[in-house]
Amino acid sequence: MFTRGAQRLVCLVCSRRFVTSSKVMSSTGGMNKVPQVATDAVLVQSEKMPDDAIEVKGYDFNQGVSFHKLMESYKTTGFQATNFGKAIDEINKMLDAKKISLPEEVVREGTALNPVGREKTNCTIFLGITSNIISSGLREIVRFLVQHNLIDCMVTTAGGIEEDIMKCLAPSYLGDFRLKDKELRTKGLNRIGNLIVPNENYCKFEDWCLPVLDKMKLEQDQEGVNWTPSKMIARLGKEIDNPESVLYWAYKNNIPVFSPALTDGAVGDCMYFHSFRNPGLKLDIIEDLRRMNSQAVFAAHTGMIIVGGGLIKHHICNANLMVSRNGADYAVYLNTAQEFDGSDAGATPSEAVSWGKIRLTAQPVKVYGEATLLFPLLVAETFAKRVKLPDQEKADIDTEIAEGERHEARS
Ligand SMILES: NC(=O)c1ccc[n+]([C@@H]2O[C@H](COP(=O)([O-])OP(=O)(O)OC[C@H]3O[C@@H](n4cnc5c(N)ncnc54)[C@H](O)[C@@H]3O)[C@@H](O)[C@H]2O)c1
Repeated sequence: MFTRGAQRLVCLVCSRRFVTSSKVMSSTGGMNKVPQVATDAVLVQSEKMPDDAIEVKGYDFNQGVSFHKLMESYKTTGFQATNFGKAIDEINKMLDAKKISLPEEVVREGTALNPVGREKTNCTIFLGITSNIISSGLREIVRFLVQHNLIDCMVTTAGGIEEDIMKCLAPSYLGDFRLKDKELRTKGLNRIGNLIVPNENYCKFEDWCLPVLDKMKLEQDQEGVNWTPSKMIARLGKEIDNPESVLYWAYKNNIPVFSPALTDGAVGDCMYFHSFRNPGLKLDIIEDLRRMNSQAVFAAHTGMIIVGGGLIKHHICNANLMVSRNGADYAVYLNTAQEFDGSDAGATPSEAVSWGKIRLTAQPVKVYGEATLLFPLLVAETFAKRVKLPDQEKADIDTEIAEGERHEARS
């Protein structure tokens, strides 16, 4: 079974090589015999792998550079690439479920029951994003999803609201993680990771926001409007009236955007200043809680895509706890958080199963990774593929016509 070279044994069965320890040799009383205890420990007989076991295989660039094939190869690459491949499948499952039609009366009933009045589909997709997602260029990816009405409900934190509006008023810039922060302070430049947002942008935002708050206060006083964070966010989307904005499209497509801690950012600073200049504006978070939970309670099925952790993650998972089906049907988490500290941010989908926030039968996926790297790729292999852009539609029609002509010419 073994051949022996100086200090090296080679197992002829599995070709594994073992460097032997001379100490072990001498303690067993001879150089010719491998200690039984070692062979028993190392050469445990392998069970046959199941027939459907998947071989580890990465991308072979001899196939040329194909983005789609490269992404497909992630599933068999291992580590987080495999989780990423599973996340693509999970989101595609949500989208397939969404396409299954519901009886007309169920669609109508859904709209009546849903306090937001959004039409019901067979799968309600929740998207959660932390504020910094909007600070970064992922804002454009999120805008695409909302513009094409591909998700049904969004949750973000205050920074995600104000920075979407702010970017319509003034740009933010690339900086560096290592910029000198004390110097930045004296120059009125604020740093978010390796991004820079000038103070001036916040001044522009405040100048734009305060008159909107005035109008809201007037409508509250004169028409009895009961403002909630999500109603205010829709109003900001309406007022900004700019197709580059996520909130503009959310308003247009009647996609509710929830942000229960809307006070924790520059938009909160505006509300604070407004409370001196024109006191009395109120936001009702309990009405919003009901609006939010109803998105899950009256859904046929639900899917959760949660980019980042903290409030946005818990708020979506908690709404999905309310449903009689015992949690969401589909779930993808994408974040950098670990579970060893017991944080909700780091909690795995499996932990959510224990709370009834994800169904026992679901196959949720967590991808450990940084969103600016991974989220665009995830969208590219899922949502983006299903959207027919006007140019693509025209190309498809041209192909159909050309094929028809070829067929006619042949017959
Ligand atoms: N631009 C901003 O980040 C900004 C601006 C204004 C206010 N705020 C406020 O700061 C508070 C905290 O922000 P938050 O709750 O949005 O989230 P956060 O920034 O505290 O992040 C929460 C967790 O999400 C994960 N995460 C964040 N960014 C990620 C990424 N790029 N890739 C993968 N995982 C990521 C990490 O695990 C992180 O611990 C909120 O109240 C928010 O309104 C933030």
